[in-house]
This record gives sequence, structure tokens and C-alpha cells, in this order.
Amino acid sequence: MRGEKALSEEKALSGNTASGGKTASEEAVRGATGGNPGAIHQPVLLDDCVDLVVPALDHPGSVVVDCTLGLAGHAVAFLKAAPSSTLIGIDRDGEALGMATRRMEQEGLADRFVPVHAAFDDFSTVLSDRGIDKVDAVFMDLGLSSLQIDETERGFSYSHDAPLDMRMDPAQSLDARMVLATYSARDLERVFRAYGEERFSRQIAEAVVAMRVDEPLTMSTQLTRLVDRVVPRSHRPAGNPAKKVFQALRIEVNGELDKLAATLPQIALHLAVGGRLVVESYHSLEDRTVKSFMSHGLVVDAPADLPIIPDDARPFFRALTRGAMKADEAEIAHNPRSASVRLRGVELVRPLPKRWVARWEDSARSPGEDRKKRSLTRQDRPQAGNRSPHRETRRR
Ligand SMILES: C[S@@+](CC[C@H](N)C(=O)[O-])C[C@H]1O[C@@H](n2cnc3c(N)ncnc32)[C@H](O)[C@@H]1O
Repeated sequence: MRGEKALSEEKALSGNTASGGKTASEEAVRGATGGNPGAIHQPVLLDDCVDLVVPALDHPGSVVVDCTLGLAGHAVAFLKAAPSSTLIGIDRDGEALGMATRRMEQEGLADRFVPVHAAFDDFSTVLSDRGIDKVDAVFMDLGLSSLQIDETERGFSYSHDAPLDMRMDPAQSLDARMVLATYSARDLERVFRAYGEERFSRQIAEAVVAMRVDEPLTMSTQLTRLVDRVVPRSHRPAGNPAKKVFQALRIEVNGELDKLAATLPQIALHLAVGGRLVVESYHSLEDRTVKSFMSHGLVVDAPADLPIIPDDARPFFRALTRGAMKADEAEIAHNPRSASVRLRGVELVRPLPKRWVARWEDSARSPGEDRKKRSLTRQDRPQAGNRSPHRETRRR
């Protein structure tokens, strides 16, 4: 049977959760679910993820990194299916990490499990600190765990009044209150539009800036009421009208897209040949980031009219999924959150070409610079017809 997360993102964020949704702390969440992490958060597309990851772990001493350990639903399944592997489990949420560690102990897997409290964009450092250069598989299940959603005081849910916090790592200083209090109307509009695809981004941003002159926006109900006032009834999506604004704030507060874009090159640099990268995304921008990263290695990187393709221009990834895999109807019916999942996987089939190593090492050293360079490249790109053939790529 396929696995699933117990909650849809929408239901979860509305606080209508399988575990009651009224919990205020890990203890309460655990109480409501009998302390069983599997009941708090069930992994999406579990069997498919195991099928994609585990073939890379068929040799003794193999190492898999779960960059988004959460409550270890996927991680436990990987270790059970790959009995000679070790799993490094990264999570920026110390509470999730603690629960996952206890789960590994209960499952008798603790001796093959290395918990790491870090953000996944520290991927290279996490490995080098442990004297590891190459790993055999890397897995990411992006977004929030149901534990985080259930803890109403962390402010991810729009249907419970709670401080506007939204930090996945409570040690981080930027929270949703600071974004709403300090960003200009233009920046708020950009956040709501880019990360929430919210049609009324400008109007909501202007309303936030007008409101904060008299009254600081600190609680989730203030924001839901504001959105409710601004978005015309005739243009409301299904569900809570504040859903997209909450999602956008969460992505901004946690720097989710930048962190993802900065992490993928680090992962590629540390994959062994035959190693696999498998990613589950729940937002179109995340999926686009993953897809475009993977596509670098899936195409022939040479001019279309070159008679012989040089070895280092051949694809270095092999696609493990045809496009993105999605949840089937049965899983979606049981677990509405899986409706938005997009699962992609690639295998590294040859050593990374030197120019990709150089480019990705460069971007790992200064991710901001690389982004600036990329946008400059886009602006400076010659017009079609005027383009250097060396910039062309062609599909296999
Ligand atoms: C959807 S949950 C993973 C659930 C897990 N696959 C399971 O089956 O229990 C995502 C987890 O990734 C963590 N996370 C999100 N962004 C992160 C980042 N940049 N660095 C490290 N952990 C992150 C969250 O704290 C959360 O616990």
C-alpha cells in the first residue's frame, strides 16, 4: 500500500488535522496521537520513494542522506529496505529531529542513523564534518511536517489565532511578524505574488502597510481578517482566502526556494556515480527549481550541428521518473495533501563534467553571486539568430 501524509496542506494549514489540530506543543501533539510519529505524519508516495532510492544502496557501507528527516517516515523505510546502509538525517527543526531519533531507537535502527541538526543548504559541510566525500542517495521531501502544522503556536495555520511566527528553525531571527512589519509594499507584493501566486498581491501588500501604521500585525487572525477584507468575494479560491498569503510568508521566512537552489548543486557534487537524487515538491516553484536543475544533466550539452558529441557533453543524469510522478486518486482521497506532490528522481551515470564541477563549486562558495551572474547572463543573452552555437543544448 502506498504511504501518505495524514493531512492535506490545505486541511492542515486550516488546522483541521488528523490529530485534532488543537495541540499547542510537541507533548500535546504526541498525546493526541498516542505518541506515534507515524500517526502524526505519514509519508507521501512512500513505496515509490523506496523504489527510487534503494537500488543505489545495494552495497555494504552505502550512505543515504535524508535532507528533510521530519519524523523519519521515509528514513525508517529506507533503512529497513537497505539493511547495510547508514542514513544521515538532516532537519533544521530540533524538535522533529528529537522525535525522529527516538523513533529510530524504537525501530532498532539507531546504530545506522546519524541525526544532524542543520539546514540542508549546509549539505557539503555536514558531509565534510563527518569525513564523507561521496554518498549513494539523497532524498528531499520538501515543506512542512504535520508536527509543525499541528503546533499552532508556531503560526503556520491560518485558522487558529497564533503569533505570526512561521519559522521552521525557532533559532532563526526572521519571522513572519518581521516580514510584515519591515518589508516595503513592493517587497510584500513580490513575496505574495511569487510564492503565493496571489492575484490580489498588490492590494494585500498595500493594506498591510496601511494597517501597520496604527496597529502592528502580530497575530494570524489579524492577517486573515485583512485578506478577507481585501479579496473580493467573487474572486475567492476554494478554501480560506488567506491560504496563499500564509504559504507565501512561510516560503519567504524560511528562504525555502533559495535554500533549495543552493543545495541541489552541493548534492550533485557529492553524489557517487550510480548515486540517486530523489525529490518530492509540493509547490510549482519548488518543482520548477528541481526540474530545471535536473535537466542540466539530462541533455546533450553541445551545439546541435556537432557531428560527434564529446564525452563530457553527454548527459550525466538518467531520469528515473518520466516527468514528475503524482499521487493516485486513492492516496489523494485518503490524504489530500498528496494532491500537490511532484516526485522526480535522477541517477548520476558518469562523473560530473569538469565545467559543471567548477560551476557548482563556484555557486556553492557564493550562491548570491551565482544568482547575480545568472540573471546578468539572462539580460546579456544575445538575440535568437545571433546566438553562439556553444550556448545551445539539445535534447537526447
Ligand atoms: C515534509 S517534512 C518531511 C517528512 C518526512 N519525510 C517523514 O516522512 O516524516 C519536511 C521536513 O523538512 C524540514 N526542512 C524544511 N526545510 C529544511 C531545510 N532548509 N533544512 C533542513 N530541514 C528542512 C522541516 O523542518 C520538516 O521537518
